[in-house]
Amino acid sequence: MLNKIAIIGGGNIGGVLVQELVQRRLAKNVALVDVKGPDLSKGKALDIAEGSPVIGCDIRVEGSKEYAVIEGADLIINTAGVPRTPKPDGTLPTREELLATNLKITDAVSEGIGKFAPKAKIISIANPLDAIVYRLYMNLGTPREHLMGMAGVLDSARYRYFIAEEAGVSVENVEAMVLGGHGDTMIPIRSACRVAGMPVEKFIAADKLEAIENRTRNAGGEVVKLLGVGSAFVSPAWSALQMVEAIIFDKKKILAVSALLKGEYGVDGLFVGVPAVIGKNGVEKIIEMDLTAAEKAAFAVSIDAVKKTADEVIAMTK
Ligand code: LAC
Repeated sequence: MLNKIAIIGGGNIGGVLVQELVQRRLAKNVALVDVKGPDLSKGKALDIAEGSPVIGCDIRVEGSKEYAVIEGADLIINTAGVPRTPKPDGTLPTREELLATNLKITDAVSEGIGKFAPKAKIISIANPLDAIVYRLYMNLGTPREHLMGMAGVLDSARYRYFIAEEAGVSVENVEAMVLGGHGDTMIPIRSACRVAGMPVEKFIAADKLEAIENRTRNAGGEVVKLLGVGSAFVSPAWSALQMVEAIIFDKKKILAVSALLKGEYGVDGLFVGVPAVIGKNGVEKIIEMDLTAAEKAAFAVSIDAVKKTADEVIAMTK
């Protein structure tokens, strides 16, 4: 149990996070900040606090429009930003199309963190994922161990779910990683996908696997289209909580996270989804996977896409 976890952004993901943090009793204090009125996060926090006697839980839950509420947090989960929503013509914006709006929000978030919880570990969920983490890093200079993006856990969970469904086995039997940027170029790593320790190809034919991998790459958009407003929120929140629990319980769990690369995978200075050991110190070690030639080529394409958005982040600073 940590002393304090703060959530930035009181939208759908933020709401599920607060609820789950309380139910799982992961911190003594949970704070939620959102600038939206009349006082969205105060309302959400009060709703959960008033339910706490029913579940017998003495965790203090506080919401505010003011960043002061996050003061002294050990861990921050950043969800602040507009989600993808279908355009009037029915087409979907890419995550990257959210950049200009969400960068402004991220700059305000950075100011709040810098002022009230500069030492906190940060898990960021806002989109475009890798670019927003990069911006937080530019603004705050957080050590790479303490700043990570949540995307790979979710993308890997989607891949695992589709594989389990097709193979007719438990989701618990499927181990898989999705790496690269959290966009259309993400790479489901088939060569490392195992069903109860056996290669996935033993259970699913190549053409079906390809369809599943395409569906995985577009899975966020599939939910956005179905919802009509906003994006997936329960699975992203649960995915971030897997990272939170790995940190709190010092699990040393290998998870796909967006981490700052310093030469690993031949990349320097970009946040990209890679497997990393997550423990009490945050990103404790980055694992360099053996990839097939095709996976390496796909990884290079994804790096280019991440770099392009990071360059836009830098250009928008001036
Ligand atoms: C998704 C959003 C949260 O993939 O990026 O659903």
